[in-house]
Amino acid sequence: MANIYLPVGSVTGTATAVANVLAETLNAAGHNALVDANASVAALNAQSWDAVLVVTSTTGQGDIPANLRPFYVQLDEQFPLQNGRPFGVVSLGDSSYDRTFCNAGALLEERFFELQGKAPIPRVTIDATETSTPDDDALFWLKEWMEVALA
Ligand SMILES: Cc1cc2nc3c(=O)[nH]c(=O)nc-3n(C[C@H](O)[C@H](O)[C@H](O)COP(=O)(O)O)c2cc1C
Repeated sequence: MANIYLPVGSVTGTATAVANVLAETLNAAGHNALVDANASVAALNAQSWDAVLVVTSTTGQGDIPANLRPFYVQLDEQFPLQNGRPFGVVSLGDSSYDRTFCNAGALLEERFFELQGKAPIPRVTIDATETSTPDDDALFWLKEWMEVALA
């Protein structure tokens, strides 16, 4: 059984819905997953999480959604070293924003690498122009992530 923290960044609810489905799947597999739509470093530090799974859309011009932005800034300011803790990033976007496609997920992944987190598999990008079932795409990726991150 693993404790997994899921910080979520979402503007219109798609990423939140995906995070909830991922958490349900993790919990059904016997883990303890917590979705946090107001993620903070305080919450990250409050429990001994076994893994972190960020689920975020991209807004503006490659920006992190407002509800996840404070977490990103706190990670920079407080620099909580991850010491090899496994993390994963599920990144939702739209490839018609070709220069900033899924940039928020890329920023979060980069930050967790800076903090010495370990990504067992690369982040997944989910393109709104290519799929109408983001949950299924995320679940497909989650299966592999669970096998390696929570082994
Ligand atoms: C105003 C606006 C700006 C967006 N900017 C980007 C962007 O820069 N890059 C990208 O990949 N997707 C962008 N998107 C697409 C969203 O990330 C995508 O539709 C996502 O599925 C929305 O998820 P959410 O409902 O959780 O916010 C933008 C969408 C909107 C409405």
